[in-house]
Amino acid sequence: MSEIADALYLDGVRLPIGRAREDGLFAGTRADDMGVHTVRALLERNPGLDASAIDDVVFAATAQVGDQGLTLGRSIGVLAGLPQSVPGYAVDRMCAGALTALVNGANAIRVGAQNAVLAGGVEHMGRHPMAAEVDPNPRFLAEGLVDPSALVMGSTAENIHDDHPALTRERADRYAALSQARTAQAQSEGFFDGHVVRMTVWSDEGWRVVERDEHPRPESNAEELAGLRSPFRAGGRVTAGNAAGLNDGAACVLLGSTALAERAGVAPKMRFRDFAFAGVAPETMGYGPIPACDALLERNGLSIDDVDLIELNEAFAVQCLAFLDHFGLPEDTEKVNPYGGAIALGHPLAMSGARLAMQLAEGFARKPNAALGLTAMCVGLGMGAAVLWERV
Ligand SMILES: CC(C)(COP(=O)(O)OP(=O)(O)OC[C@H]1O[C@@H](n2cnc3c(N)ncnc32)[C@H](O)[C@@H]1OP(=O)(O)O)[C@@H](O)C(=O)NCCC(=O)NCCS
Repeated sequence: MSEIADALYLDGVRLPIGRAREDGLFAGTRADDMGVHTVRALLERNPGLDASAIDDVVFAATAQVGDQGLTLGRSIGVLAGLPQSVPGYAVDRMCAGALTALVNGANAIRVGAQNAVLAGGVEHMGRHPMAAEVDPNPRFLAEGLVDPSALVMGSTAENIHDDHPALTRERADRYAALSQARTAQAQSEGFFDGHVVRMTVWSDEGWRVVERDEHPRPESNAEELAGLRSPFRAGGRVTAGNAAGLNDGAACVLLGSTALAERAGVAPKMRFRDFAFAGVAPETMGYGPIPACDALLERNGLSIDDVDLIELNEAFAVQCLAFLDHFGLPEDTEKVNPYGGAIALGHPLAMSGARLAMQLAEGFARKPNAALGLTAMCVGLGMGAAVLWERV
């Protein structure tokens, strides 16, 4: 077998994240057009990249119907004006859709079969509300294959609170307030400016330019968070304040081989090193990143102490706290989500994995001593996903 080649993260862009509401940033915009915009933006800011040199376009979406339904990677490529010779496909691993797209793209480069891959994700939760367009097989429940709570993500987070009484509502709200504060700080420092691209969209008031994430609530405080009620269970601990939101978003990453990076004149931002996916009980899907990261670290002979930066998707505060406790990390460790996360920014399901990679790349740029990083997320129906990256 030939040697594994380097797969490099060259660049990445995302749209601002909108709220999935009738007056949200992208309420009047097609999901596929959002993906198209990210591809065009990537090509524009990398003029040395010959579009015909792109070997594949991989796009993820959880709801692959309607304007997210026509084999997104191919349809986005055609709509973005890529040459017809550039193929594309769609993937789905729910919340880890874009992370899976990145893994697929990186692996195609690592085996030497491809040199340049666009990998991203789109989710317009306003047009495709979570689980609205699926028809779960009745056997799931009739045969006890999953607990009924497994199909409601907020309930899976309540189950984690049940498992670990030490993971209190108070801790979850404190974690949520930290996510908001860190996001606000990152925003004020221009952290997102390097990868968030503006888009002109149609709204009830006519055309407007959207350029700033809509979901953060920088004014969040512990008192207000403590006053929110859980929609998932009477007396529950999971609220709109300590959960990720319902959002619209799109993101795309350019992955390339060393030769491609040189030809295109793009300085690589980080190197893809390895990946792991794991399965856990669907009714506590939030544990997923723990076995995924454990497996990844073990296979690479590493411990969590060797990792300098972790971008962990914040589906729910309680699930992040379970991760931190498992690895013996303090709640406010600078190692994990130093620039905030999905509780503040929002979580357009299949898009979020690409956002994590963008924030990690930016983190490497800002922390010159950081050598190793992880992007990790939990996934519905009981899965975890993790990718190990290293400084180039
Ligand atoms: C929890 C959830 C149901 C809430 O949805 P929602 O009701 O549309 O959320 P909203 O943004 O309208 O917030 C609800 C209320 O909380 C308030 N609120 C939300 N965040 C707040 C914060 N940080 N501080 C203070 N108040 C806050 C809102 O103002 C709103 O108050 P109102 O009812 O008086 O207007 C939804 O966000 C959810 O399902 N999240 C999880 C998503 C998910 O499962 N993703 C996949 C993970 S695997």
